[in-house]
Amino acid sequence: MNWWKGSKVKINNGVALSGCTTFKIGGRAEFFCRPKDEEELKLLINLAKRYKIKFLVIGAGSNILVSDKGVKGLVVRLGAPDFKRISLRGNLLTAGSGCSTGQLLQFCARHNLSGLEFLAGIPGTLGGNLAMNAGTRGDSIGASLISCRVMDASGRTKTLKTGRIKFGYRSSSLADYIILEVRLRLTKMPGAGIRERLKEYMDRRRATQDLTHPSAGCVFKNPEGDFAGRLIDACGLKGKRVGGASISKRHANFIVNLGKARSADVLKLMGLAKREVKRKFNIALQPEIKIWN
Ligand code: EPU
Repeated sequence: MNWWKGSKVKINNGVALSGCTTFKIGGRAEFFCRPKDEEELKLLINLAKRYKIKFLVIGAGSNILVSDKGVKGLVVRLGAPDFKRISLRGNLLTAGSGCSTGQLLQFCARHNLSGLEFLAGIPGTLGGNLAMNAGTRGDSIGASLISCRVMDASGRTKTLKTGRIKFGYRSSSLADYIILEVRLRLTKMPGAGIRERLKEYMDRRRATQDLTHPSAGCVFKNPEGDFAGRLIDACGLKGKRVGGASISKRHANFIVNLGKARSADVLKLMGLAKREVKRKFNIALQPEIKIWN
């Protein structure tokens, strides 16, 4: 079905999503598009609505497990330069949602802006990180937000101020929107100090996490008052392998792709960790990663 015929958008069929995720797992997207600007994004939303095509946005693919069977519908990636602009007024930074963590942190260090160093090593796009309120134990990105510009399911744009957005632990009320642009309040600090903090965060991460194999970071949310990693570890599951996937030997809340892991391998390991933690501690772990199938 050539539902986009006559429009100027460029749609690709059957793009392998394994190349678009940090897990390096996933089948093909039925339709895939990288709109060049907001106008094209709006057009895509409206076409998908008219032809009843499922619409999914992928950021850096760092927090998803895509089924080996692939996904039906249209997967959209906001990777064009228009979605990656960054500007600065005083200590107020405005950035496109498609900016990667690396791009953002480099800009901040160059412009003596502190406040986002805790994101060092968290892969993702700014939009994805804000939507899930990414962060560490003490910090999360929602705390720096002033406002964001979003597009709704009808292609209308609006600006939401921070007071109108609910942020929770690894969650926000932004899930129904496509985030376009984010405005953050940061703090002035000499670049050398910022680089030092970035290094500290990275060193801590390297010491405790497996950053050498493909993964989606932490698989489960931390339950209230405890840590998913500690619980899975206490069940003796570190290093447990199914097919090409393994519960990391370094951090039990990481599942790593040792080479040819399939989504079913990861799901089996998640099921095992959930069951064992429930049996031993009576705690129901909730996934942090999103499952696309
Ligand atoms: N622990 C174990 N065994 C393990 C792993 C952890 O006993 O295999 C213990 C640690 O010793 C520590 C506690 O569990 O006492 C917490 O571990 P850690 O400090 O590694 O932090 P975390 O809660 O597991 C969180 C975020 C990470 C983020 C780190 C940065 C969640 C689910 N995870 O991990 O985020 O990088 O803090 O400090 O909130 C992600 O979201 O993808 C992610 C990796």
